[in-house]
Amino acid sequence: MRPTRGVVLAGGSGSRLHPLTKTTNKHLLPVGDVPMVYHPVRRLVEAGIDDILVVTGVHHFGALVSQLGSGAEFGCRFTYKVQDRAGGIAEALGLAEDFAQGRHLAVVLGDNVFEAALGPVLARWEALGTAAHLLLKEVADPERYGVARFVQGRLVAVEEKPAAPPSRFAVTGVYFYDAQVFDIIRTLTPSARGELEISEVNTRYVAAGSASWEELRGYWSDAGTHESYRHANALVSGHGPAGTDR
Ligand code: G1P
Repeated sequence: MRPTRGVVLAGGSGSRLHPLTKTTNKHLLPVGDVPMVYHPVRRLVEAGIDDILVVTGVHHFGALVSQLGSGAEFGCRFTYKVQDRAGGIAEALGLAEDFAQGRHLAVVLGDNVFEAALGPVLARWEALGTAAHLLLKEVADPERYGVARFVQGRLVAVEEKPAAPPSRFAVTGVYFYDAQVFDIIRTLTPSARGELEISEVNTRYVAAGSASWEELRGYWSDAGTHESYRHANALVSGHGPAGTDR
């Protein structure tokens, strides 16, 4: 088995969830009966990934550390890193280079709440032997996400929040990368919204022919807006339409 370390990205300003996020980190808001970030952390630990880096911003660093602690409660070891400003998901991931030490990474966005076990996904990625593995989900509103572009059934690019989505397949915030990811991140330039985009990282892997993908099974929602936050809560509580997302 390829040794894999986990990264949970829990930064950002949470501006789309104001005023809930005025004094609290988005990832500490409740989803079901636990803070949001517990969901992706649990999925990693269940998959046997017990060394996990948590990256968050300066404003709520203390609160996040107070909530998550050493990892003993979850059966893992947390390492923490601070992202000074909200410079994008890819920038935050760039902070994981020392932590990764050349190992493969399972990267999860701290606001992604999903049902599927990651152990079987890891096993499939291993069997494929690709440099990156993406998890896609068919959604009704792809323009809110990174969106897969296919040509004759082959994934050719990932477009970030396109006005005219090239497919209905969102690229979820669950990514598997080899150590090349840091070389890719070093070559990125900020997008129109001033961020280093994870969709650009994914497109680089795809363009090099070194990315595989599969559909994420079970329910999935990010929880970055009021609507999706409510939806994530409904899914976790079993009140959402089974196996759906938005
Ligand atoms: C981010 C990514 C996007 C991805 C989404 C999944 O979006 O940029 O590609 O599809 O997470 O949750 P954001 O949180 O910036 O809206």
